[in-house]
Amino acid sequence: MKQRTQIGGGITLAFLLAGLLNIQTVYAASDPQFSNAPAIIPQPVTLERLSGKPFPLDEGVSVSLGADTPSECARSVIRCVRVATGVELALSRDGIESKAKTIRLRLDPSVGQGRPKWQAAESYVLTVSSDGGGIEIAASDAHGLFNGAQTLTQLAEKDADGRWRIPAVRIEDYPRFQWRGYLLDTARHFRPKAEVLRYIDLMALHKLNVLHLHLTDDQGWRIEIRRYPKLTEVGAALPNYSKGLGTGWFYTQADIREIVAYAAERHIVVMPEIEMPGHSMSTTTSYPELSCDGAPSTELCAGKESTFEFMTNVLSEVADLFPSRFIHVGADEVQPKRWRACPACSKRMEELAAAGPPAGVQPFRVQVTTTAGRPFHEDIGRLQGDFIRRIDRFLAGKGKRMTGWDEILDSGLESGSSAAVVAWRSPTAISGAVGQGRDVIVSLYPEYYLDNKVPLARTYAVEPVSPDFSEAQARHVLGVQGNMWAERTPTQAAVDQRTFPRLCALAEVGWSPRESRNFPDFVARLDRHAERLRLWGISLFRNVVEWLAPP
Ligand code: ACM
Ligand code: ZN
Repeated sequence: MKQRTQIGGGITLAFLLAGLLNIQTVYAASDPQFSNAPAIIPQPVTLERLSGKPFPLDEGVSVSLGADTPSECARSVIRCVRVATGVELALSRDGIESKAKTIRLRLDPSVGQGRPKWQAAESYVLTVSSDGGGIEIAASDAHGLFNGAQTLTQLAEKDADGRWRIPAVRIEDYPRFQWRGYLLDTARHFRPKAEVLRYIDLMALHKLNVLHLHLTDDQGWRIEIRRYPKLTEVGAALPNYSKGLGTGWFYTQADIREIVAYAAERHIVVMPEIEMPGHSMSTTTSYPELSCDGAPSTELCAGKESTFEFMTNVLSEVADLFPSRFIHVGADEVQPKRWRACPACSKRMEELAAAGPPAGVQPFRVQVTTTAGRPFHEDIGRLQGDFIRRIDRFLAGKGKRMTGWDEILDSGLESGSSAAVVAWRSPTAISGAVGQGRDVIVSLYPEYYLDNKVPLARTYAVEPVSPDFSEAQARHVLGVQGNMWAERTPTQAAVDQRTFPRLCALAEVGWSPRESRNFPDFVARLDRHAERLRLWGISLFRNVVEWLAPP
């Protein structure tokens, strides 16, 4: 039987799961067919064991580049291997080294051919040959080579003498979904830049590719905006969710550029979120003239033209800083009280009611079936819809696509809008979006709210694509995203504890084929994955009983 991570009295995750869920199939994890099976998360599309001896991964191994393969690809493979194993590989260009001691990276346009562009770009074929053939990663794009390198590090195992080995395998792999995201809430409790970079590396390990940075909320404004310095002078110096005060709780524009570049090197896109018109206490505390009554408020005044001007000026700086095609504008949980009491908002709401439903706008009312979200109000929805549609047009004019929480469906988007919906309140938001031919990202509460104490099996069991969807509708489901809201997580350790292993489960839903999803097998692989996460100071076992509660 393969080695297992031990806790306390020799209990493993798989063993605990068996006890708690009384699932017989979990014992498959100790079945000979699983013995020595590589424990890769997310599970690759195909993995074939080859006969022969494993490849010794030591300092004598070099990474060689095929013609036209950029040297960054080799540097990133060397870095991935260094982080996972401590082994320092050499770089070579001329290919004169013995094949047996080489990891060859080859750009090959035929890999992933016939698949959609995004999927082909992430595809790779990894071959670890026994009998002196060395290792080859072939891909049509640097992103595929990077994914292959992540898999390579997860194949590495120590033999009985403590030497790193890679078993002989052939893996052909590509993602199921193009969007595999992680939201980090830097507003409720600020996370310093170094921690953000660390989460980017942890995302890469799980082949995640979108970091959604929640940069503004009631408790803090976390991004420097040159035109409006008080946003950080005042808005970044408010009490955080724990009522603590700190200094420098924001990212300078130089920090943002560094984060974006660091992520890009790991093939991760950073999507910023600037909340409007709700969740805006830090905005209105910094610039009280943006609220309805001149006092700090969770809502921006959407009845004043100056608010629109201010927010579009902010978005202009944000759009210049982030190469991401998508910019998220929040748009969730607007509360009616202030807008109804405000002369400017009331006047605008009356005008919009008198004008009747705008042409080409078809609201879809999301049926909120959980405790998530707030009730919809017609009058508030009209003003919110008008404000958000203007923001949508503004961003489209900058070559960007707007994203927002699924409230943007309630108040209606223009039929030609390219906005994408992040569905959180119920699966009806997913069907409503695809029914309108809109792209949607599945981020359901509570399963994908990583801060919630949701059993792991429940997070793992989410199926983003309804069996009722046509193929064309299914293509509008861009992918999945886990949200790490930070109300209850003041430290990195607390964020780690909530994030893992739920994010591992979500990574597998986002990457692996539907048919290969198997929870007991996933938990058995988590046993070994725990060793990899331990290198990052993460203990998977601190709240194991919570994760393994019945779904
Ligand atoms: C949300 O959880 N308010 C998107
Ligand atoms: Zn107002």
